[in-house]
Amino acid sequence: MLDQLLHVTRKTGDVERGREVFKKTCAKCHKHGDIGEKIGPELTGFAVHPKDKILTEIIDPNRSVEGNYRLYTITTDSGRIYNGLLASETATAIELVDVEAKRHTILRQDIESMVATNKSLMPDGLEKEVKEAEFVDLLEFLTARGKFFSLPLEKVATVVTTKGMFYRADDNLERLVFPDWTPKTAFGVPFVLVDPKGDRVKNAVMLHSTNGTFPPTMPKASSCRAMRRRRRFISSQASAAGAIRWERREASQ
Ligand code: HEC
Repeated sequence: MLDQLLHVTRKTGDVERGREVFKKTCAKCHKHGDIGEKIGPELTGFAVHPKDKILTEIIDPNRSVEGNYRLYTITTDSGRIYNGLLASETATAIELVDVEAKRHTILRQDIESMVATNKSLMPDGLEKEVKEAEFVDLLEFLTARGKFFSLPLEKVATVVTTKGMFYRADDNLERLVFPDWTPKTAFGVPFVLVDPKGDRVKNAVMLHSTNGTFPPTMPKASSCRAMRRRRRFISSQASAAGAIRWERREASQ
């Protein structure tokens, strides 16, 4: 299926028409900029990915299902079957969001079985719903860089911010921890954060300095291909590093 559609990634579409396709088919589950709902992952920063990768995610959503997006099947005593994502749980009820993005509250006492599947809530077969020309526009919309361009920081990150970064790994004050790692906007500039997955994935660039325990072990410079291509974006990188320096100042007070 993917091979048959791959040619759409080589065409140039229309961003505005793509936005309409997104609103119609994707926005009930995905947020992009100021459009859409946050049932699935936010797609605002997706412009960092190449079109063929995005297309693969759209066509074959079950390839990699992340835990919180797993589809559950609940069968009730009366024989009704619900498929959906676990939205919330209480002592007495479970709330599922189905593929139409509708919410269903099911009382625990009515549940006969509840099974976690390997499937994703992201619907299969979107390629039947979306015409090829619409795919061309949709991919153009999802890869449009607009005013800001997000840097794929994970490739050049040197530290994980959820551990102490300066003197002691176990020092809470030297950490930068967000309650969630969805895109953030600071001073009107959107930032796509790298999820450190606890403390396993490096998510910030720290460069060499003579102070502290860890900074002396850091590289003196760092660059990525995207940055070399677009030098003016280095400033957003610098402000991310600024956030870390700021954190240290706070910590030393
Ligand atoms: C019914 C809800 C729903 C609809 C409609 C939907 N998606 Fe998704 N999508 C999801 C969920 C949930 C995930 C997370 C799946 C996972 O990780 O298994 C996902 C994952 C994705 C991903 C991968 C994101 C990542 O961070 O890896 C992309 C890209 C994507 N969807 C694009 C689209 C596009 C484009 C459309 C419209 C053509 C669309 N989706 C329609 C629910 C939906």
